Amino acid sequence: MSVGSVRVELSERSYDVRVGDGALGDSAGALRRLAERGATRVFVVRDTGVPGVHLDTVLDGARGCGLEPTVAEVTPSESVKSLGTYHELLESIAGSGHTRSDPVVALGGGIVGDLGGFVAASYLRGVPVVQCPTTLLAMVDASVGGKTGFNLSVGDRLLKNYVGAFHQPVMVCADVGVLGSLGDRYLRSGLAECIKHACIARTAGHEDLVEWTREHVGRAGDRDIGVLTELVRRNVALKASIVALDEREDPSAKAGGRMLLNLGHTFGHAIETIGSLTPTGDPADAPLHHGEAIGLGLIAAFAAAESMGMVDSELTGSVRSMIEDAGLPVCVVGLPEDGELVARMRRDKKSSGGSLRLVLPDGEGSCVIVNEAPESAAIAGICAIRG
Ligand code: GLY
Repeated sequence: MSVGSVRVELSERSYDVRVGDGALGDSAGALRRLAERGATRVFVVRDTGVPGVHLDTVLDGARGCGLEPTVAEVTPSESVKSLGTYHELLESIAGSGHTRSDPVVALGGGIVGDLGGFVAASYLRGVPVVQCPTTLLAMVDASVGGKTGFNLSVGDRLLKNYVGAFHQPVMVCADVGVLGSLGDRYLRSGLAECIKHACIARTAGHEDLVEWTREHVGRAGDRDIGVLTELVRRNVALKASIVALDEREDPSAKAGGRMLLNLGHTFGHAIETIGSLTPTGDPADAPLHHGEAIGLGLIAAFAAAESMGMVDSELTGSVRSMIEDAGLPVCVVGLPEDGELVARMRRDKKSSGGSLRLVLPDGEGSCVIVNEAPESAAIAGICAIRG
């Protein structure tokens, strides 16, 4: 088993992302350092979709360092990523006798990472967290960079990630071996974020990620451990370099900073929160997964940029092909009318004061922030994914 590190450089908040087959075992190293500084307990937030063998790896490591574990289980969905679940987790951690020296481990996909991370950010004004992502999406995106939180429900609207905090982990353990048992749909969802990274790679100084992704994205489904390790390593390296320059998504960050990572997200969030949409046309497959919505959002963003003369149709077509090669949907049936979707996009927290702030491509691997995109561009984007 070979495990390497990508460093997230954030001065006193710097940490390693351990990447490779067996990286989950490295959580014990982080826990040992915390035990040496006085920790006696660990609160593990476990995604019920994670096989017991991976939980055992974490628990064995914790017990080996003398830490007494408490396990809280979460069955993830966007509606479970809520104030109610957060409250239950707080009651559980407080009931276990957890102190300020004791860490949280978040073992699961992005929803569990965000919830567990926010418990760590807020309980007793902040305790250490070790992020152990078990989906590709969580490995390449959600677990790195310290964003934590949950959704709000207001009336019939789901407001994604409206409550949260930046709270950097002390370590991330991205165990690529765990991806062997990840469902195909979840693996494909993670590939959407990898394609997004390729679309901003030149702006972020990772020129070669564009070509590498084009060559390998269609092969990720074979689950070759070498390809998956390289995929995760390269994508974590891109994300780490963006976060290192713009930890808190400053709107005035040079070249767009962390906001670039929102490429496709304003379109994606507008459709992801419509619970009836399905990638296949089969209602049993509803709702769209986050990565599926982001893949559609990427196509929409390129079509919007094309309508503004920022990119040509060849580039839009090549991104669409990458999304298709990854096995992701390229259109969706049952979208509401354009006006309603544009209104949803204006309300997205990534928009600004009701104007359409969009991350849009202006070349291969290159994106810019457009503060007031015209409504016609948003509509061109929506038309491109309407099935
Ligand atoms: N997922 C976008 C970010 O971490 O900033």
